Amino acid sequence: MDNERITSANISPGELKQETGLRPQTLEEYIGQKNAKDNLKVFIEAAKMRGESLDHVLFYGPPGLGKTTLAGIIANELGVDIKITSGPAIGRAGDLAAILTNLNENDVLFIDEIHRLNRSVEEVLYSAMEDFALDIIIGKGPSARSIRLDLSKFTLIGATTRAGSLSAPLRDRFGVLSKFEMYTIEELSQIINRSAGLLGITADNDAVIEMAKRSRGTPRIANRILKRIRDFSQVLGKDKIDLEITKQGLDALGIDDMGLERLDREILTSIIERFNGGPVGIDTIAASIGEERVTIEDAYEPYLLQIGYISRTPKGRMVTNLAYKHLGLPVPEE
Ligand SMILES: Nc1ncnc2c1ncn2[C@@H]1O[C@H](COP(=O)(O)OP(=O)(O)O)[C@@H](O)[C@H]1O
Ligand SMILES: [Mg+2]
Repeated sequence: MDNERITSANISPGELKQETGLRPQTLEEYIGQKNAKDNLKVFIEAAKMRGESLDHVLFYGPPGLGKTTLAGIIANELGVDIKITSGPAIGRAGDLAAILTNLNENDVLFIDEIHRLNRSVEEVLYSAMEDFALDIIIGKGPSARSIRLDLSKFTLIGATTRAGSLSAPLRDRFGVLSKFEMYTIEELSQIINRSAGLLGITADNDAVIEMAKRSRGTPRIANRILKRIRDFSQVLGKDKIDLEITKQGLDALGIDDMGLERLDREILTSIIERFNGGPVGIDTIAASIGEERVTIEDAYEPYLLQIGYISRTPKGRMVTNLAYKHLGLPVPEE
């Protein structure tokens, strides 16, 4: 259900194939995340010079910011294959063993939502990451014995929306940790222009900036907005996207001038109306608007925090004066 919202940063199944076409393939094409990119450039270069595998890399940050894309680029730049899987997809230790034994020297293994690996699988991963070996128990009972199986050297790239949910032993086995930041309006404009070019869409500059402003700092949302506005534009028989149609379209989609949609406003107004502006715990907020806690935490809260509409305190979330103003509500007295 969350996937149907245009401002959901999560990917919907039908979108996966379409997105692939818009994914940059090289570091050069990849816009923003300068910090992560600059570091990786050096590490990739060094690994290639030594002919070794790259250190294990952990990407963390909200959905839609380009973690999967950057993992693909790393494999591409290294000139190796990438095997893509996810925490929930690896049910048993044996599944992971099968994946690991099929990797070739220096390949990349990408595990999305790595915080959702189950315990027994995670333990197998420890020795694989550290020693490039698998300890396998053969037989049962008193005759059981453990054998060690050597693996090809590989690079694990893990991605997670919640670095805090990762166990310490797992986190410690990554050599490179990269936090993904939300994109600036300027960067999002570049991304929209690039996507427009690939999709054969022409858009006025002010229209592009308007779309960027309402994309919640998230490339996935920017691309999605571009496609929807193209639809509006086409139906009206326009051959290029202008500012007027962009504003109309975004309003029709229920996305306001800060990129907020219904659920964002519900989160804010519920804290204001039912809890006096906070502080209030995340579980209470979730219950009061009938949403799942993880949805709020992963997909909504990061942007509201980023634009300073809510703040996190030890006692819970509080709505800030900025948010009152945005909603057109009187700012409470101190
Ligand atoms: N830095 C970027 N430059 C250009 N496009 C990007 C960038 N980051 C993400 N995108 C676009 O956004 C979409 C979502 O990115 P993705 O890597 O799937 O995000 P995540 O894995 O963090 O959820 C991609 O299909 C890609 O087209
Ligand atoms: Mg992803």
